[in-house]
Amino acid sequence: MYSRRWFLAAALAGSTGPLLFSRSASARNIPFQRTLPLPQLIDARKEGNKLKLVARRGRHSFFDNVYTSTAGYSSEVLGPAVRVHKGDEIAVAVENSLARSTTVHWHGLIIPSHADGGPHNAFAPGETWQTKFKIDQPECTAWFHPHPHGDTARQVYSGLSGLLLIEDGTGEGLKLPRTYGIDDIPIVLQDRSFADDGSLYYEDAPFVTMMGMRGDVVVANGVWAPVVKIPLGLVRLRILNGSNARNYNLAFDDRRVFHVVASDGGYLPRPVPMKTLLIAPGERFELVVDFSKGGSAILETGADEFAPMMGMMRDRASDAARILKLETAPELTVSDSTLPDVLIPLKSPDSTTSLRRRTFVLNDHMMGMGMMGNSGMAINGRSFAMNRIDSTVSLGSTEIWQVDSQMLAHPFHVHGVQFRTLSLNGRKPPEHLQGRKDTILIARTAEILVTFTQPATREHPFMYHCHILEHEDAGMMGQYITA
Ligand code: C2O
Ligand code: CU
Ligand code: CU
Repeated sequence: MYSRRWFLAAALAGSTGPLLFSRSASARNIPFQRTLPLPQLIDARKEGNKLKLVARRGRHSFFDNVYTSTAGYSSEVLGPAVRVHKGDEIAVAVENSLARSTTVHWHGLIIPSHADGGPHNAFAPGETWQTKFKIDQPECTAWFHPHPHGDTARQVYSGLSGLLLIEDGTGEGLKLPRTYGIDDIPIVLQDRSFADDGSLYYEDAPFVTMMGMRGDVVVANGVWAPVVKIPLGLVRLRILNGSNARNYNLAFDDRRVFHVVASDGGYLPRPVPMKTLLIAPGERFELVVDFSKGGSAILETGADEFAPMMGMMRDRASDAARILKLETAPELTVSDSTLPDVLIPLKSPDSTTSLRRRTFVLNDHMMGMGMMGNSGMAINGRSFAMNRIDSTVSLGSTEIWQVDSQMLAHPFHVHGVQFRTLSLNGRKPPEHLQGRKDTILIARTAEILVTFTQPATREHPFMYHCHILEHEDAGMMGQYITA
C-alpha cells in the first residue's frame, strides 16, 4: 500500500528508481508549471441544442512524464463545459463506450426524473441513451457525472465529470467577469492517488468505504500544480468540488479577500467577502477575485478538518496542499467587468406556514461495518435498495427536511431541486450558504426548505444521498417520488 508513494517520490525527483518518500509536506509542493487545461466550451445553442457525448476511456497525464488510464465525456479525462440557455429545450445523446454500464446524472438541474440519469436510467456498453429536457432555472454552474448503483465512486474517480453552465443573461447584465477561459475560469477540484505503474490508485477496503477514497495529490482540471494566466482586473472562478470524499478549505496564499457571488443553484443577493471557503464534494461556488494590482496568487487548501481520524489509516491524504497558481498577464484584455454591491433579489425563505416535516438520519455505523452483511451506511436505518421507494412527496409542495449526521460530516444532496438552508448545526447558516443549493455539508444537523416542482415516478425516482461517493455506493441513499 505504501509503494504508490515511492512512485510519487520517484516522479518528483525525475528519477526512475524508487526513493524513500519524505513525509514532509513540501514533498508534495512541486513547482507550478503545467498550464491549467480548460474544458472545451460547447454552446448548446450553436449546436442547435442537440448534444452528443461519448463516455469513453482515455489516457491522460496528471503530471509530467506519466500517462494514466482515465475516462471522460468526449475527452481523455473530465468532459466539456456545456453552456445551456434558460428556456431552451436540450436534446442529449450519450454513447456508452466504456466497459461497464453507466448513467449520466445532471447534478443541479431542475428537470423531471425520467429525463435525469439516476441509477434507474442505466445503459450498457455500446448503447446510446437519449434524453431531452427544458432549462427552466436561474443562471448557475451545474455539472454531470455517472450515477450507476454501486459503481458511481469508481466511475467518477476514473475521470467522468463535466460542467453545465446555465445562462439567463443575469451575469451579463451585472457585468460580472464572463469571458470563458480568460476571466471566467472553471476549476474542477479533485484528489487522486497513483499506483507504481502510473494507474489511478483505488482501494476497496472497509476503511475506504468509511473515509471515502482520498488521494495524495489535489488536481485542478486534471493537472497537478497548474498555472493559469489571467488579465489584470476581476476574475471569476467557478469552483466545483468533484472529489469523491474530500472537503477543501480554500484560501489564497496572500490571504486576500475574495467575493462569493454564487452557490450551487445561482447568484447570492450580494457578493459575500471571505478569506477562506469550505467546499464539500458536489458543491459549487463562484468567486470573484480582484487582480487589478497585477502579480500572482496561489489557491491553496487547508487540511480537511472533517476527514475521519483513524490513527494509522490517516495519512497524507486530506492534508493541506497548494492547488493552482494564478498569474496576471498584462497582454490579456477583456471587456469591462465590475463587482456590483447587489446581485439579485432573493426572498428569504418562508417557513412560517405549517409545512410537512421529515427527518433523515445519516447512519455511519463504522463499528458495525462488515458485520451482518451491513455496509454501515444507511439513511433512517435502511441501506439503499433500487426497488424500495423511501418517501413520497406531493408535487408542488414545500417541506422542511431535517437532516442529521451521526459521527462523520456528510454532504447531503437532493436530486431535482434547489433548496434553501434554514439552519445549520442549530444556527442561521453563514451568508454564503443562504442561497440556492442542492448539496450541503452537515456536520451535525441541518434544516432545509425544499419545494418539489418536478415529477418523479416509480420507474425513475429521484435520489437524496450523501455525496461522499463511497457512502452513496455503500447505501447512504434514499429514493423519493412525487404524487
Ligand atoms: Cu452529484 Cu446524486 O449526485
Ligand atoms: Cu445530483
Ligand atoms: Cu457520507
